[in-house]
Amino acid sequence: MKLAYRWAILIALGAFSAAPVFAEGDAERGEVLAYSCLGCHGIEGYRNAYPSFRVPKLGGQKADYIAAALRGYRDGERDHGTMQGQAVSLSDQDIDDLAAYFASYPNETIAAGGEQAPEFDKAATCVACHGGNGIGVQPTWPTLAGQHEDYLVHALKQYRDGVRSNVLMMPMASNLTDADIRALAAYYAGLKGLETTEK
Ligand code: HEC
Ligand code: HEC
Repeated sequence: MKLAYRWAILIALGAFSAAPVFAEGDAERGEVLAYSCLGCHGIEGYRNAYPSFRVPKLGGQKADYIAAALRGYRDGERDHGTMQGQAVSLSDQDIDDLAAYFASYPNETIAAGGEQAPEFDKAATCVACHGGNGIGVQPTWPTLAGQHEDYLVHALKQYRDGVRSNVLMMPMASNLTDADIRALAAYYAGLKGLETTEK
């Protein structure tokens, strides 16, 4: 992708960045709804079977990103049989409430704005959106800090291989080698940030 095109995307996004994309949810109602989710997301180290990777941490993740991910599964735009099944019967209100709950999960590192991250060359292009400390700089851009390493590897390969489509992430991942992906995943997983919500 041409550099000018990339900048055009960034500028276009900037123009919309002031307003939240989704309505604010009710975290208390979300906590009740989240009970069934914690069977996987609330168990530290719980794994997806094929391929094998740990289910993503949601505690402290950006609300708008969670809401977008759930709409993606529900509407069939993001592929994953189990998560599509989980999301299929959720209303927009349920999704916003669940997102508010997971985003507000008590998390001191994220509340404090994250930790100081070491310089890492391979992450130089990532910081514009995922922040110098791995915390997303816009509500719809996910926080990577503290996420499970094997889930990050899985996600980056999905963008690179065109399994998971996103106009911003596909060009970012398209030139990454397996070694780059492993290094980036290890770097972000090693930063303090996201947590497993407890059941
Ligand atoms: C049976 C286990 C299981 C259950 C139950 C489950 N999930 Fe998931 N969830 C997963 C797996 C595995 C993934 C990773 C899927 C992928 O690769 O896209 C995932 C991904 C997600 C993501 C995307 C995270 C990211 O970083 O992109 C969100 C958001 C999510 N789940 C929310 C929920 C909510 C809300 C519920 C309850 C309504 C729920 N999940 C129930 C296993 C589960
Ligand atoms: C222009 C902004 C932008 C840049 C630069 C960027 N990303 Fe992203 N990234 C996004 C957005 C937006 C998403 C969510 C896309 C979606 O919904 O699938 C995302 C998603 C991700 C995810 C999946 C997170 C999850 O929870 O599933 C990973 C991993 C990731 N990015 C890593 C990187 C890495 C590594 C780099 C640098 C090589 C990078 N990104 C550069 C915007 C960006």
